[in-house]
Amino acid sequence: MKNTISIGIALMLGVLPPLTFAQEKDATEAEFEKFRTEMEDSNPAELFEMKGEDIWNEKRGPKNVSLAESCDLGKGVGVVKGAYAAMPRYFADAGAVMDAERRIVWCMVEKQGFNFDDIAKKPFQGRNDTSAPDITNLVTYVAMHSKGMPFAVPLDDPKVKDAYLTGKEITKYRAGPYDFSCNTCHGVDGKRIRMQNLPNISTAAGAIKGVQGWPGYRMTGGIMLTHQWRINDCFRQQRFPEPRYASEVITDILTYMTGNANGQIYNGPGIKR
Ligand code: HEC
Repeated sequence: MKNTISIGIALMLGVLPPLTFAQEKDATEAEFEKFRTEMEDSNPAELFEMKGEDIWNEKRGPKNVSLAESCDLGKGVGVVKGAYAAMPRYFADAGAVMDAERRIVWCMVEKQGFNFDDIAKKPFQGRNDTSAPDITNLVTYVAMHSKGMPFAVPLDDPKVKDAYLTGKEITKYRAGPYDFSCNTCHGVDGKRIRMQNLPNISTAAGAIKGVQGWPGYRMTGGIMLTHQWRINDCFRQQRFPEPRYASEVITDILTYMTGNANGQIYNGPGIKR
């Protein structure tokens, strides 16, 4: 699969006619979009989803229970349909607003008895890892069941609204050696770094680009990554220390960004370059 994809890209780049630099960037972008659309018809994310489904249904952990029989993602215990598109949301049992990944981790710890630090040791798939962590497979499985549904973050809940506003503040906060904030790169329309378009996450049109396609199968490396990973990696881009895994800061940002995308249709786990 990995090889087919890299050959696909090589061919795609190879056949481009000579153009000016700016034109070439746009043409490459358009070609990539076309390629991605084609790829998404047989999306490798499905393999991760299938693994996630098995893990969701399996009795696991020190308490030997399955997530299917114990984990409430906001739609009732074990219900995955529509849950991803309606998160982050407030969970009274945890006393916190949580995005999908944070909530599943919470269930693994509270319901199945797993140790948080063990999960946090290696929460994301690395370039050289042959398989994705359980949590990534689980998130992919859950996300797949919101495909075709509109984002519906419950911003009328004051606790969710609070997280949204905190997220908004965080995206404006400038610090670090370069004095960057998220908005330095993502706060205006039409910015790019190298070949990559940087979505303006403060607008509805930009926010959907920031949330669409996550969790995503990354063609560079052939690995599956979650939305949490994306935000963590942007903290690195920003030259900030990376936040603790599944922390509130990430949920706040996801609440802000997903909230801004409310009402727009989620296309399910996607493909990223
Ligand atoms: C130094 C510039 C920079 C800063 C600062 C930065 N990012 Fe990014 N961001 C990037 C780049 C580069 C990408 C990758 C784009 C790609 O791969 O197409 C990206 C990608 C993203 C994406 C995914 C876009 C997509 O197409 O899926 C999101 C969401 C995002 N950033 C959010 C944030 C948030 C939130 C912050 C603040 C915590 C932040 N970024 C800070 C440069 C930055």
